[in-house]
Amino acid sequence: MLKAIRYLKPFLLLVIANFILVFAQVQLELALPDYMSDIVTYGIQYGGITSDKPTVLRASTYEHMQMFMTEADQAVLADNYTYNSETDTYELTAEDADLSAALRRPFLTVSALSQPAMLKQFGADSEESLYALLAEQPETAAAITAAVDAQFADYTEENLRAAEIMGLRAEYTAAGMDMNSVQSSYIWQAGLKMLGIALLGSLCAIGSSFMASRTATGAARNMRNDVFRKVESFSSEEFSRFSTASLITRTTNDIQQVQMVLTMMLRVVLFAPMMGLTSLLKVLRYPNMVHILGWVIACIMVLLLTQFFVTLPKFKIIQQKIDRLNLVIREQLEGMLVIRAFNNQKYEEKRFDEVNTDITRINRFVNRAMASISPIMTFLMSSVSLLIIWFGARQVDLGIMQIGDIMAFLQYAVHVLMSFMIVAMIFVMIPRSSVSAGRVFEVLGTKPSITDPDQPEELPAENQTITFDHVSFRYPRAEADVLSDISFTAAPGETVAIIGSTGSGKSTLVNLIPRFFDVTEGSIRYGNNDIRKVTMKDLRARIGYVPQKATLFSGTVESNLRYADENASAETLDMALSVSQSKEFVDRMPHGMEEPIAQGGTNVSGGQKQRLSIARALTRQAQVYIFDDTFSALDYRTDAALRADLNELTAKTKATVLIVAQRISTIMHADRILVLDKGRIVGMGKHEELMKNCDVYQEIAYSQLSREELGA
Ligand SMILES: Nc1ncnc2c1ncn2[C@@H]1O[C@H](COP(=O)(O)OP(=O)(O)O)[C@@H](O)[C@H]1O
Ligand SMILES: [Mg+2]
Repeated sequence: MLKAIRYLKPFLLLVIANFILVFAQVQLELALPDYMSDIVTYGIQYGGITSDKPTVLRASTYEHMQMFMTEADQAVLADNYTYNSETDTYELTAEDADLSAALRRPFLTVSALSQPAMLKQFGADSEESLYALLAEQPETAAAITAAVDAQFADYTEENLRAAEIMGLRAEYTAAGMDMNSVQSSYIWQAGLKMLGIALLGSLCAIGSSFMASRTATGAARNMRNDVFRKVESFSSEEFSRFSTASLITRTTNDIQQVQMVLTMMLRVVLFAPMMGLTSLLKVLRYPNMVHILGWVIACIMVLLLTQFFVTLPKFKIIQQKIDRLNLVIREQLEGMLVIRAFNNQKYEEKRFDEVNTDITRINRFVNRAMASISPIMTFLMSSVSLLIIWFGARQVDLGIMQIGDIMAFLQYAVHVLMSFMIVAMIFVMIPRSSVSAGRVFEVLGTKPSITDPDQPEELPAENQTITFDHVSFRYPRAEADVLSDISFTAAPGETVAIIGSTGSGKSTLVNLIPRFFDVTEGSIRYGNNDIRKVTMKDLRARIGYVPQKATLFSGTVESNLRYADENASAETLDMALSVSQSKEFVDRMPHGMEEPIAQGGTNVSGGQKQRLSIARALTRQAQVYIFDDTFSALDYRTDAALRADLNELTAKTKATVLIVAQRISTIMHADRILVLDKGRIVGMGKHEELMKNCDVYQEIAYSQLSREELGA
């Protein structure tokens, strides 16, 4: 998985922008609970009053307060308030001074004494008469101050503040202020601010999602490119090691998994820890409630760890099952005609059903395990909320916390748990995609068994003699040599034919020339250069290869020919078509050269496909032509015409021709004929010589042609 991170490098700017947005999103989202707490506490409970500092005092209150103040405190009062004769009130002038030490208690005392119950206690029928009484008896005023002090001794700061603000509300109302509009304007302001913050937060979230997806999909695209390029460099050995089906799964499904986790990581790898830690810090402001979180986090840990160990081993199996499913589907689709011809649909359905059910079963198990997490989490979350409210209520009762605080705590606690869960989920997801990433990087890390030399030699421009020098070859992981001790030469302008029974190693022999495989022993030289010492590109550029099994690509006749040489001239294409005897049927096609060719060339006949495949090789104007059993799909007349035209062409261009064939008639005029039997050369020479001294050749010859035809 770490290796996959490397693929983010080209998108560094996007990644950084994403992280900035994520950071902003966290900050914005975390501001919300505090605002909500404020709305509840100040907006609703305190009626929109945010400060415990009196902004306006009625003249009467101002005078009454002085009665319970020391001289120093009276000076503070006089310094900070000025008289407004219009409204008969004193107004606060110094906004930033901290006055609560001097003013809080006297104010609370005065507002307490304004309660009717209090007046009654002192036997006064109005505030005026009470204060008149107090003015006469200073010792009563002192006693009241002492009693108030004693009473407030066990009040918390929070409670005092709350009490003062309640008192202020009554004071402001009495002073003629419209407290309802103060309250609603506070709530409106705070609410709008919250709305704005939430909106900005969403914008950040959308932006970062956008960038994360862009980055991850881009990284996945590059990864697929790399895998494809790597697979192109594979030789047959690596193909059989991975299997085509698995290579397809790795390029598609596995990379998809990696992409998914990359997107997730970009979104949450920063988000969750930042959200979690910052929330945790905020939560720690209320130390008496934190233990609740501790318990729940422990529960979640246990849950997720169990989950982890149950599902992790299954992920590797799932990917393997997808390989298997791919394999079966490919095989069945490609072999559909055979399946139908042998009426084996039922059998194949069963086989498909087995792999299908298999993968369904394991997916169902994993999904169930994953899905069970969600309800348990919901349950835990609700329990947490319940616990917080339960404990919180007691805290409020004790005067330690405000209701708004509890609500904020609740939200922060949910954030903490959420982030914790997300982090835990990532730890579950990462191993899964690690399996996929591992499979992808296994492909990327594979060294092809056939590679270019570090310091390639340069091939001379003109055609060279091909020399097989005591060549032996064994397929990887096979037990016996397929070819042993093969030596022969093929000079420019020569036609060398290879004949032998099926399985004698003819295809293997010619496949060694373009280095589809490397010789096990001995060497193959092109001129003076060992073919392993030059680049494959250089070597293959000189070879026109026609494989035993003709393969065409989807496109048109022309695009298939140009596959050999993009820049081939119209004359070259025409020559290739006429030598390969394709011209007459291509001319008969409704669109001629533009005739579409279906994938795999299924819309032309076997013989036509073979001839187009020959035409493609001829388009290249190569120095060496290899025809691997290419003529056996042609009728005798076409075979003969093609060879005659080909001879004419190669006589002009001095190209070397290697023909693998099973029909004597195809090769009897070759300059040299190799007779292969079980991987060994059992005869070499011209037709007439072999007829005299090679038993195997004679046997083949007599089984195909009459003595007269053979000219014996
Ligand atoms: N990719 C391969 N891996 C292992 N063995 C192979 C492979 N291809 C061919 N063989 C074996 O090599 C032998 C020669 O095959 P081949 O060269 O295709 O014969 P021919 O073309 O003469 O019919 C056969 O016995 C075959 O089983
Ligand atoms: Mg063959």
